[in-house]
Amino acid sequence: MKAVRFPLLAALVTLLSGCSSNTQPFVEVADIKQLMISVVEPAAEIYWDAVGTIIDKNGIVEFAPSTDEEWQAVRNAAMVIAESGNLLMMEGRIQGGVEWTALSRALIEVGRQALQAAEAENATAVFDAGAEVYYACSNCHATYAPDTIRPSDNRAK
Ligand code: HEC
Repeated sequence: MKAVRFPLLAALVTLLSGCSSNTQPFVEVADIKQLMISVVEPAAEIYWDAVGTIIDKNGIVEFAPSTDEEWQAVRNAAMVIAESGNLLMMEGRIQGGVEWTALSRALIEVGRQALQAAEAENATAVFDAGAEVYYACSNCHATYAPDTIRPSDNRAK
């Protein structure tokens, strides 16, 4: 029963703090779906598309960012992915159960790994971090958005 009582308590605390004088300065603009479509997904696409391999009749071509601007775009995307985890835990978006928090924190964690890889300008690390990001997306969707188990990742198709 312990596992059940904690989220109930957490929900109660959230509810009570919401009822008391307005302690939350932020204003929710996007609902979760809009946040996914407008913020999370575009950043993830930039990150996933940054490094890869094209195989065609001419052979194998590996591509990766080469200019400062291109690396900056990858760093920015990683930052958005990481901070999105915080946006998902805002009041109004946070879902019941401890899992939502753990899965949102997991997105922050892989987002930070993604950022480190981009800061190091290490294409292999960016590719690997991209896979970790993908798992973090899929893990949450498996529980909270079963129709969206696979966010669009060209590599997975
Ligand atoms: C903590 C949970 C959580 C994480 C992490 C998460 N998502 Fe989502 N996502 C959701 C939920 C919940 C929905 C369903 C929203 C709805 O339909 O109301 C969703 C829906 C989506 C959708 C479908 C939107 C539509 O058109 O219906 C896309 C695309 C998406 N997420 C992309 C991503 C990507 C990319 C990542 C990782 C970088 C990610 N999500 C990480 C919870 C999460």
